[in-house]
Amino acid sequence: MSGFKSLRPVDNFYQSSLFFPMPVVLVSTLTDDGTTTCGPYSLLAPFYVAGKEYYAFMLECRNSSNTAQNLIKHKKCVLNFMSDDRKTFKECVRLGWPGDTPAEKMKDFIFHFEDGERKAEDRNGIYPQVISEAVQAVECTWVDTLDGAENDKPLPEGADHYELEKYHDFNGITTPYGAHFVLRIDKILMKPKYHDAIVNGVTAKDFPPIPVDYGYRDSKNFWYHKHRRLLPELLPQRQTTVDSVRYAAKRLQTDVKFTDAALEKLVNVPRIFLPTVLKGCVKWADENGVKLIDVKEMEIINDKRSKEKGR
Ligand SMILES: Cc1cc2nc3c(=O)[nH]c(=O)nc-3n(C[C@H](O)[C@H](O)[C@H](O)COP(=O)(O)O)c2cc1C
Repeated sequence: MSGFKSLRPVDNFYQSSLFFPMPVVLVSTLTDDGTTTCGPYSLLAPFYVAGKEYYAFMLECRNSSNTAQNLIKHKKCVLNFMSDDRKTFKECVRLGWPGDTPAEKMKDFIFHFEDGERKAEDRNGIYPQVISEAVQAVECTWVDTLDGAENDKPLPEGADHYELEKYHDFNGITTPYGAHFVLRIDKILMKPKYHDAIVNGVTAKDFPPIPVDYGYRDSKNFWYHKHRRLLPELLPQRQTTVDSVRYAAKRLQTDVKFTDAALEKLVNVPRIFLPTVLKGCVKWADENGVKLIDVKEMEIINDKRSKEKGR
């Protein structure tokens, strides 16, 4: 340990004991009168990324905040990723003043709102609006059924925290002052320039200028980093051999066979993923009455997989 000095983790360790890179989002939620209000948040991370019926973020909030209370009552929000210019960040910090009511915050709001895709699909529904100036926005719904949080109640008028017999582990009211929200992703909206880059291939100049909040703050300042040109780092190109792909294929419990030319198409797949990929091929073969997978079949399977990814 000679090269390091130890720091004691304390409350809000990500702000007080670390430099911790995080996004900055303005979270739009619905107030009781159906209008949209916004609060800035950084404690946001992808939570369910694959293998569930839905994708989700995790948002961590002071439970007395407008955002937390609105989520408990109205369930929906939009995560608006704003650009990194000073004026925008200044507005984010202004909206972060604890205790201001939505009306107090929103009267001087410098951005504009527009309806999102949820509203376009459900004209009679009430959804928080998207900030027009956002680079990208994610429309979400709180999954209140996880961790038994569906019965969590809003705070009584004037209370600044919860006093409960039991707090949830990861969703809803989790501590006297804290809340966690598993947010199902309903829609991802992106400005055309960035949308097209993701669809057609991203180069260094195609990344949006979004700020990085470095976690650490003091009593005077929030510190953040402006976007810089991104640097590409080549992924390792490691190939397995056809022999090892053939070995993995032989271990499958199936009468479906692969030609060597088909297996050749899988030499770039890291060994740890080979059984899953091969099982996917066998599943496709079973569904389509195929007993021998050759290059043509492999191309159909790959095509299907990329279409599914695209969707
Ligand atoms: C850049 C920035 C990031 C913030 N991140 C968080 C966060 O992740 N969680 C949190 O509880 N408060 C965070 N805050 C403080 C909240 O914004 C503050 O509690 C604010 O009052 C919330 O607004 P609301 O009541 O309208 O939801 C952040 C503030 C700023 C300026």
